[in-house]
Amino acid sequence: MQILIKEIYPFFDEVFSKLGVEEDIWANLLAPATKEGHADVALPCHSLSKILKKSPLQISSDIIDLLSKDLSEIAIISCMNGFINVQATNDWMGSKLYEISSDSRLGIPEEDNRKIAVDYSAPNVAKEMHVGHLRSTVIGDSIVRILLFKGHTVIRENHIGDWGTPFGMLIEHLLDMGEGEAANELNVGDLDGFYKQARSKFNSSNDFAQRSRNRVVLLQSGDSGTLRLWKILVSESMRYFNEVYSMLNVLLVDEDIKGESSYHDLLPVVIERLKDANILVESDGAEVVFPRKKWINREGKEMPMIIRKGDGGYNYSATDLACIIDRAENLRINDFLYVVGTPQKQHFEMVFDIAEMAGLINENHNLVHVNFGSVLGPDGKIFKSREGNTIKLVDLLLESISRAEATIKDKNPSLKSNERNKVAKMIGIGAVKYADLSTERSKDYIFNWDKMLSFEGNTSPYLQYAHARICSIFSKSNISRNVSRNSKFNILEKEEELLSRRLIAFSSHLEETMANYSPHKLCNYLYSLASSFASFYENCQVLKSENIEIMHSRLALCDLTARTLNLGMELLGIECPEEM
Ligand code: ARG
Repeated sequence: MQILIKEIYPFFDEVFSKLGVEEDIWANLLAPATKEGHADVALPCHSLSKILKKSPLQISSDIIDLLSKDLSEIAIISCMNGFINVQATNDWMGSKLYEISSDSRLGIPEEDNRKIAVDYSAPNVAKEMHVGHLRSTVIGDSIVRILLFKGHTVIRENHIGDWGTPFGMLIEHLLDMGEGEAANELNVGDLDGFYKQARSKFNSSNDFAQRSRNRVVLLQSGDSGTLRLWKILVSESMRYFNEVYSMLNVLLVDEDIKGESSYHDLLPVVIERLKDANILVESDGAEVVFPRKKWINREGKEMPMIIRKGDGGYNYSATDLACIIDRAENLRINDFLYVVGTPQKQHFEMVFDIAEMAGLINENHNLVHVNFGSVLGPDGKIFKSREGNTIKLVDLLLESISRAEATIKDKNPSLKSNERNKVAKMIGIGAVKYADLSTERSKDYIFNWDKMLSFEGNTSPYLQYAHARICSIFSKSNISRNVSRNSKFNILEKEEELLSRRLIAFSSHLEETMANYSPHKLCNYLYSLASSFASFYENCQVLKSENIEIMHSRLALCDLTARTLNLGMELLGIECPEEM
């Protein structure tokens, strides 16, 4: 409980300075207790033995004697086995809850503003977005929301794959098909079909392959007719991606598109800068850089990063270096996050290393690859359709909504049909997003409809339901949420204590979530909060409490729980209906 630590810190500081123990020795020892229940905060005295020349038991009991009176309003302090245990008093928790409840930010402090680039989603033009892009989109969007809420300036960058050799064959295929027909096929979202047809012609016809190669040259040289055709491919694909974004309710808009093509003019600059740094060398006809950290391939040979191929074409790595120049020097950003799958780990390690070697970035820059694992099917392999194709994301999301709708129809038959449609969207989309976010991002997870749409366990419907249930307490009783917001918190029962502790801990959990860009930590927190609410509601009468003060205090707990759930879910990018 970080807020408690902050509050008791000055008292410990005073005692330790009296005892002659330096701050850097004791400060890190004062930490949240590992087990909920015993204490909120603990301080092990074992390592102080040498300095104070006393046993840990003696030290802890001495400190308690010095502190217990001064701390009595805040916490109860006790010792066990050389540990000092600090447990917040119910009165102190009550006053903290009151502060949090009166704050529209629910006690989450704003941080000093930083400008942060978040590179996420990044599907490829004329190719279906796959489940990996879904993960990037969902995780990236949650990180963006939290950073914004914390007061940062976020530059969203959707680094779409819209450039490179495949565009030669894609444009030729578009011409063969006729512009109108091609646009039609792309904007109904059959991107994969289009790509596959082009690829198969490329592989089977020499004439087509030659035309494609010529077309790439025209594209690279900025031929206006070719660029016009290229734009059709990009805009029709974007129309489809935007449909997915709007269903997912993510923040990405057209202005966030910063595709590979936008770095085209910077590519020669990359070569120049690598040459200036004396790190660009020739290898098998290509221009490459050997990073400082050695990468060894299967043949035991040291592996360079290829910047420009023998035919003069620039690689993905060159684009990423250009992108770093743009972010660091043009946009003047120091912090960049790349929300991209784990398979690109080596790519980013090499790119970051080379960027540093070339002086494109320095110690003031902080580049983080926020990597994530794969989405697997029930067979444990990469999630594909039954026919073995890439799953069309729009279809996947529609299926989730219709499954959610069937469940609500069953659970709440009295809900009107237009309400039901809205709620089904929130539940269906929330379920897919939450399943993704609640898995530790570096891990793979198995896509499982029944699990993600279940109203039990660590799922979005469970949290949404907890929220809706609280809203219904208020709507049934006709008591306004605002009334309870001015009530005093009077914590009596042990279920109220646990719920209060968890409510107070929201800001620390959000901090932990961002320490490593791990939205699953926020999910786990919200789940533990909803679970403690369930046992509170089961054991403590709310509307039928013994007296009106207790009722108002409990309503205030209900209100704050609902607001915490709602804000937490909002930061994950998931909406909570008031009724479901
Ligand atoms: N378009 C790439 C892909 O689908 C992801 C791009 C990620 N961002 C970047 N700056 N490289 O794999």
